[in-house]
Amino acid sequence: NKAPGEPEAEASITETLFQNLLGCFVSPPPPNRLCGVLFFCVCRCYVDDKVSKVAWLNRSNIIFAGEDKWSLDPRVDLVTKGQLEYSLRIQKVDVYDEGSYTCSIQTKQQPKTSQVYLIVQVPATIYKVSEDIIVNEGSNVTLSCLASGRPDPLITWRLLNPSAEPLDGEEYLDIIGIMRNQAGRYECKASNDVATPDVKYVNVVVNYPPSIRKTQSSEPPVGRLGTLQCEAAAVPTPEFEWYRDDKRLSNTQGINIQILGGNTVLMIANVTEEDYGNYTCVASNRLGAQSASVFLYRPGTGRDINGSACASLSLWLLLASFACLFFKC
Ligand SMILES: *[C@@H]1O[C@H](CO)[C@@H](O)[C@H](O)[C@H]1NC(C)=O
Ligand SMILES: *[C@@H]1O[C@H](CO)[C@@H](O)[C@H](O)[C@H]1NC(C)=O
Ligand SMILES: *[C@@H]1O[C@H](CO)[C@@H](O)[C@H](O)[C@H]1NC(C)=O
Ligand SMILES: *[C@@H]1O[C@H](CO)[C@@H](O)[C@H](O)[C@H]1NC(C)=O
Repeated sequence: NKAPGEPEAEASITETLFQNLLGCFVSPPPPNRLCGVLFFCVCRCYVDDKVSKVAWLNRSNIIFAGEDKWSLDPRVDLVTKGQLEYSLRIQKVDVYDEGSYTCSIQTKQQPKTSQVYLIVQVPATIYKVSEDIIVNEGSNVTLSCLASGRPDPLITWRLLNPSAEPLDGEEYLDIIGIMRNQAGRYECKASNDVATPDVKYVNVVVNYPPSIRKTQSSEPPVGRLGTLQCEAAAVPTPEFEWYRDDKRLSNTQGINIQILGGNTVLMIANVTEEDYGNYTCVASNRLGAQSASVFLYRPGTGRDINGSACASLSLWLLLASFACLFFKC
C-alpha cells in the first residue's frame, strides 16, 4: 500500500511519431493521422520509476505485457529506453490497425491508462476507369471512375476542352444523347486531402454525319485556272466526290481534285465554255452524306460567289501550292 506522501505513478503518451515514405508528413498532436500503408508508427509511452507493471493493448487485446509479446503480429515491437520509456512500434501500418491503443500501468495503488487513437489515412487511388470510346452522336454514354482511399475519395469530372467546367457526376458520369461538342478528353479526379489527388483521363470520340459548312464558287475567264471548293465537318473524316450534272469527275486530263481532311478543291486547268455551270460536291462517311452545289460562273454572271464564307487563308495557300504542282510552275 501507498506510503504517506509518496507521489502517484504516471503514464503519459506524449507524442506519436510517424514515419512517412510517401512524402506526406502529418504531425501530432492527436488525432494522429497516418498516410498510406507504407509507414510505421511509434506510440511513445513515458512512465516513471514507481511503475511496477506495464502493458500495451490494441483495443482490449494485450499486445505486450511487460517485455512479453502476446501478439503474434510480427509488425509490432517495443521501443524502450531504460525504465522510463515503454513505446509501441507498428510497422507497415494498414487500415485494420485503426483504433485505440492503450498504454496501461500498474502501480502499488491502482492501474492507470493512457490512450492514443490511431486514424489511418490512405491517399485516393483510381483503380478502374473507363476505356477510351468511340460513339455515335445521340448515344447514351456512361463513363466510370472507381477509386479507393480513406477517407472515401470525392470523385469529380471535367471535360477538358474547351472550358473545363465541372460536370455533374461521381463514380459514374452519365451523358444522355451525347453531342459532337461533348467529344474530347474527360478528366476524372479522386481526392481525399491525404495526398495529391489521383487523376485519370478518358478520350471520347463522337461520330456524326457530314455537314457542309462552306462552299466557294468562282468566275474564271476562258483559258485560265478555275477552282471550286467545299468544306465539310464530319467524324470520321469525310470522303469527297465531285459531280458535273450526273457525271462523276476524277483526276483526268485538265481536272485535278485535292482532298485535305475536311476540305476539297476541284481545279480545272484550262477553263472552256463547256466547263461553266453547276457542280456538286458530295461529302460522306459511314453515318451519312450531304451534297452542295458549287458554280463555275462565266465572268460577269457570278452572284453569290461569296455567299458562303470565304476560304481560309491557309487553305488558299495550300491550294496555290497544289496548283503549282499540278501545272508545274
Ligand atoms: C489491432 O487489432 C485489429 C483487430 O483485431 C487487428 O486487425 C490489427 O491487426 C491489430 N493491429 C495491431 C498493430 O496489433
Ligand atoms: C437514352 O436515355 C434516355 C433517358 O434515360 C432514354 O429515354 C433513351 O431512350 C436512351 N437512348 C438510347 C439510344 O438508349
Ligand atoms: C445544280 O445541280 C444539282 C444537282 O444536279 C441540282 O439539284 C440543283 O438544282 C442545280 N442547281 C442549279 C441552280 O441549277
Ligand atoms: C486551253 O484550251 C484551248 C482550247 O482547247 C487551247 O487552244 C489552249 O491552247 C489551251 N491553253 C493551255 C494553256 O493549255
